[in-house]
Amino acid sequence: MSRYAEVYRRSIAEPERFWAEAAQAIDWTRPFDRVLDDSRAPFTTWFAGGELNCCYNALDRHVERGRADQIALIYDSPVTRTIKTYSYRALRDETARVAGALVASGVAKGDRVLIYMPMVPETAIAMLACARIGAIHSVVFGGFAAPELATRIDDAKPKLILSASCGIEVNRVIEYKPLLDKAIDLAKHKPERCIVLQRPECQATLVPGRDADWREWAAAARPTGCVPVKATDPLYVLYTSGTTGVPKGVVHDNGGYLVALAWSMKNVYGVDPGEVYWAASDMGWAVGHSYILYGPLVHGCTTILFEGKSVGTPDAGVYWRAIAQHGVKVLFTAPTAFRAIKREDPNGLLVKKYDLSRFRTLFLAGERSDPDTLQWAEAQLGVPVIDHWWQTESGWPMAANCMGLGPLPVKHGSPTKAVPGYQVVALDDGGREVPRGQTGSICVRLPLPPGCLPTLWNNDEGYRRSYLIDFPGYYKTGDAGFVDSDDYVWIMGRTDDIINVAGHRLSTGAMEEVLSSHPDVAECAVIGAADAIKGQVPVGFLVLKVGVNRPHDAITGEVVQMVRDRIGPVASFRTATVVQRLPKTRSGKILRGTMQKIANAEQYRLPATIDDPAILGEIKAALRAIGYAGAPT
Ligand code: COA
Ligand code: AMP
Repeated sequence: MSRYAEVYRRSIAEPERFWAEAAQAIDWTRPFDRVLDDSRAPFTTWFAGGELNCCYNALDRHVERGRADQIALIYDSPVTRTIKTYSYRALRDETARVAGALVASGVAKGDRVLIYMPMVPETAIAMLACARIGAIHSVVFGGFAAPELATRIDDAKPKLILSASCGIEVNRVIEYKPLLDKAIDLAKHKPERCIVLQRPECQATLVPGRDADWREWAAAARPTGCVPVKATDPLYVLYTSGTTGVPKGVVHDNGGYLVALAWSMKNVYGVDPGEVYWAASDMGWAVGHSYILYGPLVHGCTTILFEGKSVGTPDAGVYWRAIAQHGVKVLFTAPTAFRAIKREDPNGLLVKKYDLSRFRTLFLAGERSDPDTLQWAEAQLGVPVIDHWWQTESGWPMAANCMGLGPLPVKHGSPTKAVPGYQVVALDDGGREVPRGQTGSICVRLPLPPGCLPTLWNNDEGYRRSYLIDFPGYYKTGDAGFVDSDDYVWIMGRTDDIINVAGHRLSTGAMEEVLSSHPDVAECAVIGAADAIKGQVPVGFLVLKVGVNRPHDAITGEVVQMVRDRIGPVASFRTATVVQRLPKTRSGKILRGTMQKIANAEQYRLPATIDDPAILGEIKAALRAIGYAGAPT
């Protein structure tokens, strides 16, 4: 019998009591005065007056209370054929040393440190070291290009940048240092120093006077202790795609965030301290922050930092090998990773090679879990497969089948019900709840529970504009979907121009900005076309300036390269096509939604306001020419 209904009811009826109880899982250096402070609504704070240190909670307290020799972190890197473990004591000691090095470099509480690193243990250590001294980390995913990195440098204004000589993508070395140097050249803000981890696969050239070798820098340092910070101080800033080319600096605080994560480890994921929990994602994403690093460590679990992919490193059995080898109880990954495995090993032959008897639950998030993939995973693994829904902004799940509270019946295609603390509703454009089963804008009634973003970095107004003004009294998630008559939440798509490519959140608006800067392009549109593995991939449509008579292939090739250079390979922008004109409403709005439906061979209604319906035939033909044979005639 699930306890979900009772726990959910209590979380909504008595939020202060509920979260004050949950806060007992955290060590505070000063108790909080108030649980919820909504006096500056819609800017809510949790645990005001309280002080704590996240690194202490993640490491030191476990060392002090009997977990010193337990493995805290397993670095499993099939791309370098390395497996290395860190006990809680070793991870604390290494973190204390790097924290000392940060202090020696002049980094103090409240300073920002930008981390542009691959999936190596030093990335986790760098984040924890920042938390230890109250510095605010901002991790940038390695698949972004130099201009994206520069934008983040200019917004976060880091005192110091921590980086590495390279990342490794399947069997390719990606040099990070030239990207970093270029980003610093492009940025207006210049960091005082860059510390570079030299990896054996590639030696980076250091800029004299500015750059230092990580190992020398850390070796010279004295370990330092944990600095208490306010519960409401920022722990980190993580940039995510917004509806324009400018990314949003999502802030997560220390107190509320840690309380929510600790609560979720037991109640959502159903794991206990001492168990092995693996989130197969990247530190550059929200999943990495919450469920590779802080969540499992705060809860006293063993976490896995995996430098590889679900296929190709070396094969589609790598997840099963790691689960068996490390005794993983819970795996969290993106559906795209499973679609890739399913393509390479449709009959699950590799699954059968390994002893998965200790494996308990698979969680999927980051994009919609299509029922086919989910059922395939259930059949292969014989364990519950849980779709759950959240975003960078929430920092932890908003809808899930809370395994720790006792599972609810699964409805394939739905991430189940709102997680305790969240009141999830579907609203119409006027802000009224739509009838059950009817699609609307998915919103969360304010105040948001602890752990969610309190604001955007240095941008309260942007926070209000992006999330709060469209639906007064609610937080707008940007997702579209419905709540059914059993209170199950269904997330069906976005209400904005965000697309989800292999679990990576990207803005088509940002790609359009790049395409329109090509000298031959008069107008453009980017849509998210359905993709069997990545869920969605971007496809660009270009209208050329009058008089341009260069070969179309040359121009499309150039824009593909431009997106790669300016946004990064992570955008997976590989396809663009030239069209005579774009379908528009009479008021001039490009009908991207209709184009997307055509590409995906979905039914669409001819928009009443379309300027010239004949254009849709041209779009279909253009799509067919680039392989979208599904486009209905
Ligand atoms: N540094 C540099 N480049 C990177 C990178 C990084 N950290 N991550 C990805 N890239 C590059 C890739 O090399 C690839 O480049 P290419 O165009 O030259 O081939 C491009 O960005 C796209 O990468 P990706 O989206 O990862 O596609 P893929 O084809 O290499 O792999 C999957 C496909 C499905 C196996 C892979 O995307 C996957 O495992 N995804 C899981 C996603 C995930 O965990 N998301 C987190 C949310 S839970
Ligand atoms: P990110 O901020 O990168 O984690 O992306 C968050 C977005 O991914 C959400 O707003 C959704 O659009 C999508 N998403 C995440 N998880 C799910 C899910 N389980 N089902 C449907 N969409 C999801």
